[in-house]
Amino acid sequence: MPKVWIDTFGCQMNEWDSQAMLGILRQKGWEPSSSPLDADLLIINTCSVRKKPEEKALSELGYLAKLKTQKPHILLGVAGCMAQRMGEELLHRFPAVDFLLGTGQVQNIASIVEEARTKKIVALDINGCSPPLPTLREKNFQAYLPIIFGCNNFCSYCIVPFVRGRERSRPLEEIVEEAKRLVDEGVIEIILLGQNVNAYGKDLGNTRSFPDLLYALGKLPIKRIKFTTSHPRDFSPQLIEAIASVPQVCHWIHLPIQAGDDKILQLMRRGYTVSYYKELVRKIRERIPDVSLTTDVMVGFPGEGKEEFRNTLRTFEEIEFDQAFMFAFSPRPGTLAEKLPEQVEQEEKMSRLRELIVLQNEISRRKNMRLVGRSMEVLVEGEDPKGKGLLMGKTREHKTVIFPGNKKLIGKLLRVKAEEAFLWGFRGKIEDEEREGKG
Ligand code: SAM
Ligand code: SF4
Ligand code: F3S
Repeated sequence: MPKVWIDTFGCQMNEWDSQAMLGILRQKGWEPSSSPLDADLLIINTCSVRKKPEEKALSELGYLAKLKTQKPHILLGVAGCMAQRMGEELLHRFPAVDFLLGTGQVQNIASIVEEARTKKIVALDINGCSPPLPTLREKNFQAYLPIIFGCNNFCSYCIVPFVRGRERSRPLEEIVEEAKRLVDEGVIEIILLGQNVNAYGKDLGNTRSFPDLLYALGKLPIKRIKFTTSHPRDFSPQLIEAIASVPQVCHWIHLPIQAGDDKILQLMRRGYTVSYYKELVRKIRERIPDVSLTTDVMVGFPGEGKEEFRNTLRTFEEIEFDQAFMFAFSPRPGTLAEKLPEQVEQEEKMSRLRELIVLQNEISRRKNMRLVGRSMEVLVEGEDPKGKGLLMGKTREHKTVIFPGNKKLIGKLLRVKAEEAFLWGFRGKIEDEEREGKG
């Protein structure tokens, strides 16, 4: 059987795209490979959100192109957001590349690979993709389920709307059908995906909403439902109610704030203020007291002076997120923010980033300390890569727990007692084996 190797950069959307490419290719007789050295088809699925993942992909592409000079029969393809953004420029820089596959072309991977045997293929389309698609997942107990593709928001810093196209919600019935199939296959946890899941249904004439979808999925025998990402502007009271009342919906909300200063939020075109965001958090915590809140934030956005950065620090102290993904602003070609005046020096960005990380790490550790002694429901995801005989799992609040246990427990729901807290999560001890989740 011919072998395919895919390396995936970027977000969960890209991970799902890679799983779908593998699923489709497997149906055509391709076998997945864990190494580029013994594969006949090499694909890198790229990300453009910041400069760094692009640089990494480009350097890897250089390596793969060299590999191809030694084994000319190999096919080399670039998929995903950077393929979409750079287009034919990639073919000029890397003549060894046989095909470019845009974000809306995932469903056509098999025919594109066949065509690429005889000529260079440039298949760039951002508004396609027609699920349901077969997927090949690493874990049979956990699955991504995309509910909406693309993004209409055009936040001023963001490349995603340019490379992923406009919002396309999948029909509710189709999503429920796919969820049923996943449950039949033994999936315990479904993670609903979208750049902004709260926009679900807007393009369907608002006949269906994200809360409607959660209620519909709640009727299935799923143990856990998680979702990401939520845009604060579109987070409705009905959604808070749905999360609180559908038992399988986990109490973890990823709610990117991006900045803790009104001037910067406006320049970012986020559509909310800091006080709106704080009020939303208050309402969420009032209705769902055990909720875990995570966020994304950027420092060094154009126009961010010392005062604006202080406001972000203060906002972080006030809100106390459970965890944050913190980035230095990276100008992206063609976005509005790239052209804004008052760009911040790289060194200053890095120094602000370090300061924010120190603050947030302290908050994460402190928040986790408060949970020591608690019994938590954990889905065992795998072995802890760092320690022999240790397993790693996630709680319903999406916190990481590491504990001693047998490999046979991977894929099971257990109750684990948190014994020691760290900024990344907990070390714990299994209490008993629990096959029935809360749902
Ligand atoms: N759709 C999600 C949202 O609205 O929050 C996620 C978008 S992006 C895939 C993930 C995160 O990358 C963003 O939340 C943002 O913090 C960060 N990001 C996006 N563009 C960036 C840029 N130009 N420079 C640095 N970070 C960026
Ligand atoms: Fe990018 Fe904003 Fe869309 Fe998120 S909501 S993908 S940050 S444009
Ligand atoms: Fe995701 Fe990166 Fe594309 S974050 S949507 S893979 S630009």
